[in-house]
Amino acid sequence: MKMTSNKTAGKTQGHSEVYGTEESKLMELFEEQLKDMYWVEKALVKAIPKILKNVSSEELVDVIQDHLDETESEVGKVERVFQSFGKKAVATKCDAMEGLIKEAEELMKSSDKGAMRDAAIIAAIQKIEHYEIATYGTLRSFARTLGLTEAASLLEGILKEEKDADEKLTEIAVSTVNVSAMSEVE
Ligand SMILES: [Fe+2]
Ligand SMILES: [Fe+2]
Repeated sequence: MKMTSNKTAGKTQGHSEVYGTEESKLMELFEEQLKDMYWVEKALVKAIPKILKNVSSEELVDVIQDHLDETESEVGKVERVFQSFGKKAVATKCDAMEGLIKEAEELMKSSDKGAMRDAAIIAAIQKIEHYEIATYGTLRSFARTLGLTEAASLLEGILKEEKDADEKLTEIAVSTVNVSAMSEVE
């Protein structure tokens, strides 16, 4: 196998020889993605209560309610990330999240209330969580590369909350909701 990947090239030649010095551009990309996540958290604070009204399982209500509380605090945490490098928080609409929220609403409408709708809601929220996990993971790594230590640790904290929420949803799906949904008939 020929070792021609960028990663290998970067390691042997040093990143500046391969890509040039792109630190300010990376800062721009970091800020753009952070503005997206500021919009995302605020949009989720509005969207999650609507989803909660459709949940039947009390256990699932608790997990989603807990994560709604975390999401509310994440709005402030993202603001602190902006503050940590001397910027005011700005939100830019995130088309991907708008689509995922729309999909969640459609899934709720098209499934019968009960275990089936709960299963659909878990599926929809896990897509949302995975989007957050991907973006916060990237932002945390960008912050580390940029030497923004405080931002990196704040982002790492948010990332952990998103991962924990995702895991709790998987547990409920596997232990109860999916099993009940499977036994429902037309
Ligand atoms: Fe979040
Ligand atoms: Fe989340």
